[in-house]
Amino acid sequence: MKNIQLRTNIDRLSGVISIPGDKSISHRAVMLGAVANGRTVVENFLPGDDCLSTISCFKKLGVSIIQKEEFVEIEGRGIDGLQEPVEILDTGNSGTTTRLLVGLLSGIPLHSCVIGDESIAKRPMKRVTVPLRQMGAKIDGRENGNFTPLAIRGGSLTGIDYQSPIASAQVKSSILLAGLHATGTTVVTEPHKSRDHTERMLRAFGCEVEEDGFTVKIRGGQTLKGTHIQVPGDISSAAFFLVAGAIVPNSKITLKNVGMNPTRTGIIDILLKMGAKLDIENERFVNNEPLADLTIQTSELTGVQIDGKLIPRLIDEIPIIALLATQAKGKTVIKDASELKVKETNRIETVVGELSKLGAVIESTDDGMIITGQQNKLTGGHVNSHGDHRIGMMLAVAACVASGEVTLESPESISVSYPNFFSHLNLLIEGN
Ligand code: S3P
Repeated sequence: MKNIQLRTNIDRLSGVISIPGDKSISHRAVMLGAVANGRTVVENFLPGDDCLSTISCFKKLGVSIIQKEEFVEIEGRGIDGLQEPVEILDTGNSGTTTRLLVGLLSGIPLHSCVIGDESIAKRPMKRVTVPLRQMGAKIDGRENGNFTPLAIRGGSLTGIDYQSPIASAQVKSSILLAGLHATGTTVVTEPHKSRDHTERMLRAFGCEVEEDGFTVKIRGGQTLKGTHIQVPGDISSAAFFLVAGAIVPNSKITLKNVGMNPTRTGIIDILLKMGAKLDIENERFVNNEPLADLTIQTSELTGVQIDGKLIPRLIDEIPIIALLATQAKGKTVIKDASELKVKETNRIETVVGELSKLGAVIESTDDGMIITGQQNKLTGGHVNSHGDHRIGMMLAVAACVASGEVTLESPESISVSYPNFFSHLNLLIEGN
């Protein structure tokens, strides 16, 4: 797509929007639905490019998946029913599809090849191939299995007790999905708790999963039963409008159906700590996942320190939190976040580089960044998403508080997680 001119110098955001489905939960609904017995219906599925990559891979594995306007229907083939794919499984830009698929396929007696785009080709896969090989998986890939393309020769696996060096839901979930096919029990312990959507959804499909602190256990050989899943709105997508509402003058916006899983609500804790006027209403539960409606208003904000166990609870929100911090009084220090370097882009580099182009006072550190807020209003500039959806959306929100013209290169990446982002932003600018 061509470069686009972003709307700048916005004087007010107002209205109500319903946040599109959660990306992490949409992926898992398709994957578990595919290996369950019977039909699974998924409402509010996110039709973003990443989740469409998951659907396309499972179609190549012989699963019938029908996408309708309102829902997705999956005819589950049972735990051993996937077919050997004739074609390469292309996971596009999606780390979750890549890592979870490799785990799931490791224990099924099929040969398959997994490849993604040029960003996936740079992302480390050893974090899953090392524990999966300990379970007996036969996986080959560039640099001894660290990079795609990966070739998987599925076969029998044995449960392991794995101490993960990082808090990563992709690592944990990849091992748990392999554990479904392993003999004995598979145990994963993390240094901090990462998002637990796999555990919650396995239970919604009738599986037993035990949890004790940062340890999760699954018994192999369990079967899954097709079910009805209603996907909550993605708090990581809501985050862009929570920040927009807090920093654009004269604003008040309501975001409906936002997933409030406690492993994901670090952004809420930070907004409240920085002084945001945020109301949480209509709290409820759907398929073991909490939801709420959120209303945010223009706020006086103060810088904070963000580190330690909070990081996995807001890892995907750091780009937009960096922008929030540029509008707060004082310094914001983000530490313990070196995982940012292995996301869709090196997000320490891309956040610092792109916000600096708009006049923000921000510097990178080895494991995070330091932002000095309210030094000056953001200026115009020519910025680039670098093919990273969250960098693209952060820059579109930054433009709302920029005084000059802002041009965005590679805006198409935004459709990875929020295909109707610009129509929602325009609705709030027009005041719906
Ligand atoms: C995800 C886990 C996180 C997150 C990613 C989605 C998931 O990655 O950043 O956007 O759906 O499991 P890590 O597991 O690498 O932390």
